[in-house]
Amino acid sequence: MAQLWGGRFTKETDQMVYDFNASIGFDKRLISQDIQGSTAHVIMLAKQGILTDTEKTSILEGLKGILEDVKSGRLEIDEKKYEDIHSFVEANLIDRIGEAGKKLHTGRSRNDQVALDMRLYTRLQVTETDELLKELLEVILTTMEENTETYMPGFTHLQKAQPITLSHHYGAYFEMFQRDRQRMADIYKRMNYCPLGAGALAGTTYPLDRDYSAELLGFYGPTLNSMDSVADRDYLIEFLSALATVMMHLSRFSEEIIIWNSNEYQFVEIDDAYSTGSSIMPQKKNPDIAELVRGKTGRVYGALMSLLTTMKGLPLAYNKDMQEDKEVAFDAMDTVKDCLTLFTGMLKTMKFKKGRMATSAMNGFTNATDAADYLVGKGVPFRDAHGIIGRLVLYCIEKNTSIDALSLEELRSISDKFEEDIFDAVSLKTCVEKRLTVGAPGPEAMRQVIEKHKQYLKEDTIGNLMRSK
Ligand code: ARG
Repeated sequence: MAQLWGGRFTKETDQMVYDFNASIGFDKRLISQDIQGSTAHVIMLAKQGILTDTEKTSILEGLKGILEDVKSGRLEIDEKKYEDIHSFVEANLIDRIGEAGKKLHTGRSRNDQVALDMRLYTRLQVTETDELLKELLEVILTTMEENTETYMPGFTHLQKAQPITLSHHYGAYFEMFQRDRQRMADIYKRMNYCPLGAGALAGTTYPLDRDYSAELLGFYGPTLNSMDSVADRDYLIEFLSALATVMMHLSRFSEEIIIWNSNEYQFVEIDDAYSTGSSIMPQKKNPDIAELVRGKTGRVYGALMSLLTTMKGLPLAYNKDMQEDKEVAFDAMDTVKDCLTLFTGMLKTMKFKKGRMATSAMNGFTNATDAADYLVGKGVPFRDAHGIIGRLVLYCIEKNTSIDALSLEELRSISDKFEEDIFDAVSLKTCVEKRLTVGAPGPEAMRQVIEKHKQYLKEDTIGNLMRSK
């Protein structure tokens, strides 16, 4: 055990206590961030005259070598020997460069070190998740552009309601994932402050230049309270909450794809590459990816609940409980990135059975509202029109037919306001085309929205934030 402490101890740590306390098994993935943070710290210490230039050069070379060797596999992170990634780096640095290595931790505590590492790692995850969301939006937008006249039923209560288009349906998801991206940008803005220099909890007596460290690490500036700096995990809770929302959206979309893919609907055909078979039933082609995405939503919600609960009773400032932020957060981050990647691939390769979708849109009296609106156009008050069309629907159900399949005589037997133009008024095309208000499925209205979305996707949201100060 190569520990960073021990001077005031007279006994060895019990092995089980050591193992229980150790975090190297999961915080080893912070190695790049740990070395990035140490590098900035050392450059700042030298600028302030706390380290000599020779010490600085030697430490920086040592740190660089450690990272290179770990990445290339020459240096193994021995989980039995080190308590956490911070001890691993420091011990290896001292092995490599000797005395100067012992000065790395001057004016720093593992509390501000881990706060920094986690923030750097999360910031990177925010940008990577944002990038994946953008790729998903691009696939959604392509389908939207190609399907402004692909009719399908719109549902409420999972009952056919009014005809819409595939473009419009996908447009709803575009809005959701766009808001998810906006959440990423919001989190980035709020979290992009540097906790380094907060020390254990009360800053240090060394003349650190915290503004400079923050600048070196691409932060807007230093955090302004040293206790909060080491005790804050809000940004992570916000990120997990945003990830939970991404999963909720992916899960709803997955649920719809599973329904559309069912034998009863047959609206879509999931690509072979994104489906799996059954070991016993040869005819099966299952939508496992959509089901797994829906299923994995639970573990991401779990991560959010877990961290909220971990944090809720903690007195200021650092407490070891906070080490529990990592495993759940890492799992949620990995899960969401995998789900976004696979879901986007599935969507990109999925085929639509447009004929079935249009037929389905025509059945189920999806044009009943339009038939009522037609009567309103002929001077009938809406409430009366609603009643007339209700009777008409009942008549159709008894005769097992649809409104547009009735003869003018049959229609006129229910209301003499019906004329020849009723057939055009209740056709699928007219029902959709007439819906032209902003946000409605009419192809003209949709094309305007699609133009806005195209412009939006040209903006480099997070990239702009990264460059802004
Ligand atoms: N592994 C710890 C964590 O993840 C690092 C900080 C340890 N600090 C301490 N004072 N024990 O939170």
